[in-house]
Amino acid sequence: MNVLVLGSGGREHALCYSINKSKRLRNLYAIPGNPGIKTIAECVDLDPMDNEAIKNFVNKKNIDLIIPGSEVYLENGITDVFKGTDVSVFGPTKKATQIESSKEYAKALMKQYNIPTANYEVFDDYENARDYILNNNIPTVIKYDGLAGGKGVVVAMNEKDALDALKLMLQDKKYGDSKVIIEEYLEGPEFSLMCFVNNNIVIPMPIAQDHKRLLDNDKGPNTGGMGVYSSVPIISKEIINEAMNKIMIPTVKAMLDDGNPFTGFLYGGLMLTNSGPKVIEFNARFGDPETEVILPKLETDILDIIRGMLNEKPVMIRWSDDYYVGVVLASKGYPGFYSKGYQIEGLDTTEDIVFHMGTKEVNGLIKTNGGRVLLVTGHANTLKKAKTNAYCNVSKIKCDNLIFRNDIGKKSL
Ligand code: AMP
Ligand code: GLY
Repeated sequence: MNVLVLGSGGREHALCYSINKSKRLRNLYAIPGNPGIKTIAECVDLDPMDNEAIKNFVNKKNIDLIIPGSEVYLENGITDVFKGTDVSVFGPTKKATQIESSKEYAKALMKQYNIPTANYEVFDDYENARDYILNNNIPTVIKYDGLAGGKGVVVAMNEKDALDALKLMLQDKKYGDSKVIIEEYLEGPEFSLMCFVNNNIVIPMPIAQDHKRLLDNDKGPNTGGMGVYSSVPIISKEIINEAMNKIMIPTVKAMLDDGNPFTGFLYGGLMLTNSGPKVIEFNARFGDPETEVILPKLETDILDIIRGMLNEKPVMIRWSDDYYVGVVLASKGYPGFYSKGYQIEGLDTTEDIVFHMGTKEVNGLIKTNGGRVLLVTGHANTLKKAKTNAYCNVSKIKCDNLIFRNDIGKKSL
């Protein structure tokens, strides 16, 4: 098969890493890719948001399968472009992407089908939203009803933060002209449960736990994720089964019944509350950084899996029992202002794979080129050893401008 991956981050590097091991693979391309991906695939300098340019490239190279990494390509209609052609896209249509791109759609679907999630109200007017905040419980959670690059959620621990968030979203229209959801505050450990999905077929992957805060012990500002591990011993098999039976399978069925079938990777961001697992958010694609520790565990050929899903003939999937820990190395200053262009050395000296999140090749040298720069993995048959291995690999990377958390995986030890 000729396969095209869209995107340029760690998730797309991990996807390419897995696809590159497939016996079915003939040629692997990435648009635009990154220096890590370049070692295993041909990176093509086209705009991944230019569907017309992608169409021409796909025809020229006889691409059989496209895997979009980020939600922005799905929202841009890449799946719809190839509907009814010989080219398969393993990702939802623009309409089904609403499960991620419109919180209002996702929440209404969950309400209608009794899928456990936080109670909520929707507002498009600042005054009404403010009155609601003043008359209801704090803490509360304010969510922008659209894609906001992972920044559209504010967990407000006091009234001022809640009102500031409302002002930013509804008055200043910082992320666009959409509504906000005000949501009940939930508490408990979070975990990510991702599934391969096609119509009514739902196959789970091992779960992972992301670390969203910048600093150790979950202190500091929220980030795109500073580290991740899989599996997650503090979440039992029974809870995962409950989450499949009460959340993931009913959601996929609800979308089908709703005339909006889902194909692709469905990501459940879940929280284990006192009354069982509840949905924090859905994503319509692979999670980042979860992908970077889940796909290395995959022992079955990923193209067999995707082909099986698309033909509605799912294959048995085998996963390694090993634990994987992924530590993100980020630029000093991230998630605020940071500078780029620092040289990175030691990338060839680690025992385990290092995924590139934000790097650039300049005259054969690898330099920092983003907020989150690398995700360094480590694996072993216990979580403790996997963590030690990951940090041993981290110590081999030399760069003057990188920071990282020291406690990835600690919550489950
Ligand atoms: P999201 O961007 O939807 O993943 O949300 C970012 C983070 O906000 C989540 O990982 C949670 O830690 C937190 N969060 C979102 N919704 C809630 C909620 N209803 N109660 C408590 N925390 C939440
Ligand atoms: N790890 C959260 C996400 O992919 O959005």
